Amino acid sequence: MNETTWSNVETYFDAELIPSDATLNDALRAAAAAGLPAIQVPPSQGKLLYLLALAQRSERVLEIGTLGGYSTLWLARANFARAGIDDRIELRLGPALDSFAELRAAKGAPFDLVFIDADKVNNLAYVQAALELTREGSLIVVDNVVREGAVVAEPRDASADAVRRLAEWVGKEPRLSATVIQTVGTKGYDGFLLARVGPAS
Ligand code: DHB
Ligand code: MG
Repeated sequence: MNETTWSNVETYFDAELIPSDATLNDALRAAAAAGLPAIQVPPSQGKLLYLLALAQRSERVLEIGTLGGYSTLWLARANFARAGIDDRIELRLGPALDSFAELRAAKGAPFDLVFIDADKVNNLAYVQAALELTREGSLIVVDNVVREGAVVAEPRDASADAVRRLAEWVGKEPRLSATVIQTVGTKGYDGFLLARVGPAS
């Protein structure tokens, strides 16, 4: 088993299950033309976010770290609002912790789903902030917690240390019940953390 197999399997299932989509392809092309790194989630994970948002009957989704907006489009499509997609997305530029403070001050309805995919060293602070903006039953997804096994490698880099602080905190947090799923495919070997807000049982 190697990366070629993982990629071929991903490509196979994507072809069967995820129709090619002009809007998503345009977003990828625009991001590449703008010189953004191609580190957006793969289609399979975008679709997973979409399915989670649908399953949540999400009306409000919060994404931290938008890059070229690829996952943003997947998430926005799951919103129940019938408006055009632009009307479903409110973009805030700047340090995410500032945006969190603004959202707290705005006292809006809780978010049904939060996807965290920004600078990795702040992940714990982002999850803690997300917890204040969600409700029992909300889901929090954190991308890139495995990073080719960096989380258990020695010596550990700053991102891996941050993942370990995150895992230790989440594991002890009575308001969260969480798991990590490892992934392979066109983006290599990685994984995401999925947490539900609310007691474990
Ligand atoms: C990187 C960031 C990501 O969010 C990702 O999914 C893959 C790689 C990075 O910073 O290298
Ligand atoms: Mg990511």
